[in-house]
Amino acid sequence: MTLEELEQLTATALSELSEASSLEGLEDVRVRYLGKKGKLPEIMVSLKEAPKEEKPAWGQAANRFKQSLSEAHSSRKEDLLASSTPADALDVSLPGNHGPLGANHPIRQIMHRVIEICDRMGFTVATGPDVETVFTNFDALNTPADHPSRDEQDTFYLSDGSLLRTHTSPIQIRYMQQHEPPVRIIAPGRAYRRDTPDATHSANFHQVEGLYVDRNVSMADLKSDLTFFAGEVLGKGAKVRFRPHFFPFTEPSVEVDFTCHVCKGKGCRVCKNSGWIEIAGAGMVDPAVFNAVGYDPEKVTGYAFGMGLERIAMILLEIDDIRRLYENDARFLRQFA
Ligand code: DAH
Repeated sequence: MTLEELEQLTATALSELSEASSLEGLEDVRVRYLGKKGKLPEIMVSLKEAPKEEKPAWGQAANRFKQSLSEAHSSRKEDLLASSTPADALDVSLPGNHGPLGANHPIRQIMHRVIEICDRMGFTVATGPDVETVFTNFDALNTPADHPSRDEQDTFYLSDGSLLRTHTSPIQIRYMQQHEPPVRIIAPGRAYRRDTPDATHSANFHQVEGLYVDRNVSMADLKSDLTFFAGEVLGKGAKVRFRPHFFPFTEPSVEVDFTCHVCKGKGCRVCKNSGWIEIAGAGMVDPAVFNAVGYDPEKVTGYAFGMGLERIAMILLEIDDIRRLYENDARFLRQFA
């Protein structure tokens, strides 16, 4: 290699370095000129073999080769790094992105609340299937064969003659069939009716059933337990009022009103000026129900109640339309998260 050739080589290498368009391409050029198997060793050999008088010039030229190439290499590398990593690719000072967090649906929240209160009152939780038999949903609950609730207009029947339970009361039957008294259970779950949806009706809703069977259970137990329950749900001082009613599975039967939580009983728009809000159906278990499950009505008595969870949710959370609970509009549900 002559000195001129070395100068020429330096110029070519510098322009190749400055034109490298990627980090990989740049590295190729570096290896070809400065690497162990590249041009540099060749240059060192030529330097060594150069005649004495040319040595200083060769030395300078070789140094320039090494130095200018490695400077050009690092400056090009910086440029390439800067343009291949946009300034905003990773900014560790930015706050992280939090994904949306889920929360319990209002119905679930109320259900848990009811379960928690009843748990403290000594009730255990029982469950049953959504698909029920005519026997457990109606017959064993002393519902007459011609009762309107059995009608296809009101009940979803399946092709095999079973049905979607119209209330959580069949869980009472299943539980008593499998357990000897005393019994103290609540049974939360879904219920189904062929209702046309409107602001207060839905074909699918939730209930909590209560059942207490023992020796000498009386209406006074029902009233005092529901009064305690009302106080826990609505706040101390809430009262309970019984109005005579009829259910096939209880005798006597009552509808249960709680003090209106909005006006505390004074009368307002929510309670239609009565001071009371209807919350549950209840009564003393009819002896016919005990006979159906093999309990001796001469030995035990019991109370039962059933209440709608949507109704409690709507009252406590001030929701004006039951359908909002099923639309799953996150903007609505988030308010109760
Ligand atoms: N099963 C009734 C309903 O669906 C509610 C009910 C009323 C349940 C009185 C009871 C009860 O256990 O004693 O409307």
